[in-house]
Amino acid sequence: EFSEIPLCPPDVVFGVLDSFNQDPDPNKVNLSIGAYRTDEGDPWVLPIVKATELALAQDVLQDHEYLPISGLTAFLDSSARLVLGASSTIILENRYAAVQTIGGTGAIRIGLGFLKKFSKSNVFYLPTPTWPNHNKILTELGAEIRSYRYYDVDKNCLDEKGMIEDLRAAPEGSTVILHGVAHNPTGMDPTKDQWKQICDVIKERSLTTFVDFAYQGFASGDLDKDAWAVRYFIEQGLNLFIAQSYSKNFGLYNERVGCLTVTCSSPKLASCVKSQLAVLCRTIWSNPSNHGARIVATVLNNPAMFAEWKENLRVMSDRLSQMRQALYDRLRVLGTPGNWDHLLAQIGMFSYTGLKPNQVEIMTKKFHIYLMKSGRISLAGLNSKNLDYVAKGIHEVITT
Ligand code: LMR
Repeated sequence: EFSEIPLCPPDVVFGVLDSFNQDPDPNKVNLSIGAYRTDEGDPWVLPIVKATELALAQDVLQDHEYLPISGLTAFLDSSARLVLGASSTIILENRYAAVQTIGGTGAIRIGLGFLKKFSKSNVFYLPTPTWPNHNKILTELGAEIRSYRYYDVDKNCLDEKGMIEDLRAAPEGSTVILHGVAHNPTGMDPTKDQWKQICDVIKERSLTTFVDFAYQGFASGDLDKDAWAVRYFIEQGLNLFIAQSYSKNFGLYNERVGCLTVTCSSPKLASCVKSQLAVLCRTIWSNPSNHGARIVATVLNNPAMFAEWKENLRVMSDRLSQMRQALYDRLRVLGTPGNWDHLLAQIGMFSYTGLKPNQVEIMTKKFHIYLMKSGRISLAGLNSKNLDYVAKGIHEVITT
């Protein structure tokens, strides 16, 4: 009966990683996956994470009992403080519903699943381009997916006019998915003025705002600055769905630590929303996992550890900025045709180079440099040993 099942193409992101891993070439470079690497090209366990893990391992009180369906309270409270700010009225008035999730993806899946079930509208807006998993999740949910213009590939900048026009045309009650900071894949974020316009049109059209927030601390190196847009939207009276991930900023990729926070108009509504979110969690993974969330909760709730974590974050965001600048400088020195200023205007872990799919193919086939078909590179894959090689590769595909 299942003989007709077609083969699904490889995942857009992880498929490239698989190809990289299978390539025996000694000069190969991995600019595909959004995961931090040191200048030696190695994964980095944050020192604060290692220290916390060692301390937790001694904790005789730890057992392997189930966590509550909605997760660790200390984790949920500190996650809300991290994104909203400790003095947020939402927190002081207890107007939020939060659940611990299996990574940022779990937070998106639960949040969008909730909206699919309870929103009056089945229309969901995604930016063009966006993280490919957004589309997949909404497709699985049976949502009506629409796109709004976000990035102008000809001018290499935000398509401000297109974005506002498309959102203005959205039916009332539709959900709009925004990247709260360090847009993936473009690395191009709205300016404060542009965020204000986006907020106005969301209010005007009574849209539901869903914020994918996976890179706090990676854009500016400052956690509060990176939360500016989220906090501005809240100040303007909007209620938000916020999907947080600790994969990147804690380097806890395989621990799958995420949090979904929904801000509500009253504590009573927050309790109701939380009870419904818990139903969705219970039917997908039942209870969340402990290890990663306990590390995050321990660090976020201890001022000295929190300070150390911020230092670790700085190390990562500084190295990424250096690589961004270094790639730009090398392309300039090589005289690579085109204006590369967008590399510097973009922020965070990614850069949307502007390379076209046929150029990406040559980069991979000829130079064994792996990047997304969209032209996105992860700056984390660059280091002092491969920078020249990558810059020359880009130069060559552009000039030949
Ligand atoms: C990426 O965009 O490379 C990361 O967020 C990894 C993923 O899950 O796709």
